[in-house]
Amino acid sequence: MKLLLDCDTGVDDAVAIAYALASPEAEVLGIGSVHGNVEADTAAENTLKVLGLVGRTDVPVAVGAERPLLRPLDLAKLVHGEDGLGNTNLPPSGLSPSGEHAADQIVRLARELPGEVTLVCTAPLTNVAIALMKEPRLPSLVREVVLMGGTAVEPGNVGPVAEANVYHDPEAASLVFAAPWRIRMAGLDVTMRTLLREHHLERLSAADTPLTDCLVSVLAHYFEFYTGSLGHRACAMHDSVAVGLALGTVEVLESHLLPVYVCTSDGPALGQTVVDRRPLANRSFSAPGAHTEVMFRIGGEEFLNHLVRRLCELVV
Ligand code: BDR
Ligand code: CA
Repeated sequence: MKLLLDCDTGVDDAVAIAYALASPEAEVLGIGSVHGNVEADTAAENTLKVLGLVGRTDVPVAVGAERPLLRPLDLAKLVHGEDGLGNTNLPPSGLSPSGEHAADQIVRLARELPGEVTLVCTAPLTNVAIALMKEPRLPSLVREVVLMGGTAVEPGNVGPVAEANVYHDPEAASLVFAAPWRIRMAGLDVTMRTLLREHHLERLSAADTPLTDCLVSVLAHYFEFYTGSLGHRACAMHDSVAVGLALGTVEVLESHLLPVYVCTSDGPALGQTVVDRRPLANRSFSAPGAHTEVMFRIGGEEFLNHLVRRLCELVV
């Protein structure tokens, strides 16, 4: 499985990247960075820190869009820490990004490997939207897009109905959902039920590898943030779900092929993924152009166990 990741490397992105690198099913072709949790260049540096930690300095990292297509920059440092890695202030990676723009990296790899690249997006979709504008044939060149973003039924996490990755660049997300490619959407409906708990952290601590030791410290701030909002001790492993879906390691219990639109109007619904569920309620209602498989239920507990096991087993 040839994966091209696009991340705003924050805490759960870092876990997702480590998980992809720990997965024998995955060939990680490259990783793009984008604004979102932190600035695009900080996200790239955080990605390089993860790659350095697991000895995978062969994977190219491309810095991408520094800001949304139309809107002002809005970061999520409250959730992920000032450095994006839980205020751990890890030493600099000593590594450099490739110099290619992340949108160009998407276009280049899609052209070089037509029909083979799975684009896994765990961040605002600005780079992907720019890539679509640069190469209108992109939807036919990419195998599929698997993204963490949006929500169908679950409340939003940055607005009443908006999920952060979509909210941080709604115009970009609108372009991506409108393009004629196969999308699989892991939104808050499934990721807010894929919660890492203390017993998972204990297993990571007990593994005592350079990676697990680092992840345990990186996760601490994020875990406390989520504990405050959830009311019990846990944190959401949003981005790993997208990687797991791409790899086929997440069991899909309920999903539907539905049209998805993005609200780009200012107001309380800004950034909402409007998932047209009418075909579910009324079988005679056809939904022309439905090309997004929206996840409604997955085997979250089994996936978390598998995720933790993989992370513990990755010894450099
Ligand atoms: C998404 O927003 C970011 O804060 C996380 O990394 C994840 O990709 C969850 O809404
Ligand atoms: Ca993310």
